[in-house]
Amino acid sequence: MYQVMSATRGRRRKALGAPLRVRSAAPADLPQVIEIDQRATGLAKPAYWAGILRRYGRGGARRRFLVAEGAGGVLLGYVVGEVRDWEFGSPPCGWVFGIGVRPQAREAGVASAMLESMTGAFQRLGVTTVRTLIARDNRLVLSFFRSQGMMAAPVIPLEKEIG
Ligand SMILES: CC(C)(COP(=O)(O)OP(=O)(O)OC[C@H]1O[C@@H](n2cnc3c(N)ncnc32)[C@H](O)[C@@H]1OP(=O)(O)O)[C@@H](O)C(=O)NCCC(=O)NCCS
Repeated sequence: MYQVMSATRGRRRKALGAPLRVRSAAPADLPQVIEIDQRATGLAKPAYWAGILRRYGRGGARRRFLVAEGAGGVLLGYVVGEVRDWEFGSPPCGWVFGIGVRPQAREAGVASAMLESMTGAFQRLGVTTVRTLIARDNRLVLSFFRSQGMMAAPVIPLEKEIG
């Protein structure tokens, strides 16, 4: 359980007005997760999120699908991540590959609390590095991850059109 109402790093955070609970996602959370994602990306992806819940929601040893719950059971955000073994030749590493916070709940420390919970789980698995991939022009998400101490990694993604 996280209480996040502090002023940190010089920028005053909004107060959420209620304690925040970061926990594993459950099937009943999916409509709110889909809504939060849709607000950020413009796309509703129910099949995608059902798949994420199936694969990551059971809190298996290396996979996590966490949500942040505020007052009255309202979901304020989600984060998905996992520990991947020896990817790109690197030792096991924690990957965060989806994070979103409800617009009205942003700048109150919700994403920070969720990431802390995720990295705590990674650390308990013995992992010492956490990575993510973000769109180069998503400055908001980049600002968030930079604020968490994340820097450019010594790997780059490559791609080619095949269809
Ligand atoms: C990025 C996001 C997850 C951050 O969530 P949040 O709960 O508002 O983040 P926090 O309150 O924990 O902020 C932590 C730090 O991030 C940075 N940050 C957050 N919002 C910021 C903003 N609007 N401008 C600049 N920096 C910001 C700050 O450094 C902040 O630290 P501070 O409060 O001490 O100043 C949220 O804005 C979001 O969901 N955005 C849309 C995500 C998206 O585009 N998804 C689609 C592709 S993945």
